[in-house]
Amino acid sequence: MSNERRPLVAGNWKMHGSRAANTALLDAVVARLGKLDIDVLVCPPFVYLAEIAQRLAGTTIALGAQSLCVEPVGAFTGEVSASMLKDVGCGYVLVGHSERRSLFHEDNGVVARKFAAAQAEGLVPILCVGESLVERQGEHTFAIIREQLDAVIQLAGISAFANAVVAYEPVWAIGTGLTATPEQAQAVHAFIRGHLSHQDANVASALRILYGGSVKGNNAAELFAMPDVDGGLVGGAALKADEFLQICAAANRS
Ligand code: 13P
Repeated sequence: MSNERRPLVAGNWKMHGSRAANTALLDAVVARLGKLDIDVLVCPPFVYLAEIAQRLAGTTIALGAQSLCVEPVGAFTGEVSASMLKDVGCGYVLVGHSERRSLFHEDNGVVARKFAAAQAEGLVPILCVGESLVERQGEHTFAIIREQLDAVIQLAGISAFANAVVAYEPVWAIGTGLTATPEQAQAVHAFIRGHLSHQDANVASALRILYGGSVKGNNAAELFAMPDVDGGLVGGAALKADEFLQICAAANRS
């Protein structure tokens, strides 16, 4: 981590939780988080957002959603718009998570539109990028990530990254227990920052780039020690108060 950028730890709960489990988890996290010099946010499933916004009022924990609709309003059954997310208290939204890309067929064009839709309502998009195992083995990692970034730059412009976060999540490390080594993560984070800095060095140096993929309490510190790793996007470990708190503490120290 660098001193210029405030660390951020985001918990992506994916399709986990219940009203009772959410309350127990947040009560434990809020009680023990303490005063840290980092940003912390949780991204629960849509249906719990409004209730969790009330639970988090008066705490330092921010709220994010896991996805959103590309359209602002209308006949889009089953979808949730950026303005609705804003209305119930979200400040952030994930776009382009690998599960959305692979399981729900969101391509780079759709992801770019979601990014723009979020910003149009003042939400901070967390743009997820990352390569599959086959792509890494074929040495296509940088090309894949460049395409994922360029689709957003083309639609929204480089200046849009002044109000965004990028998360590098290698698909092969998500939910597998296989974490990128700190050096592997640093190499890709440096590539992302370098690629953006060709267009705007100031935007690139201020951009927070999170690492995601099997971040745990016992590996967070070494990942966050890397100069271009500004925090984590945490899946499974965000559902366990002890683990999540350890990860937040590691981000605070780095
Ligand atoms: P895990 O931390 O469970 O590997 O999930 C990472 C992730 O996809 C966060 O968005």
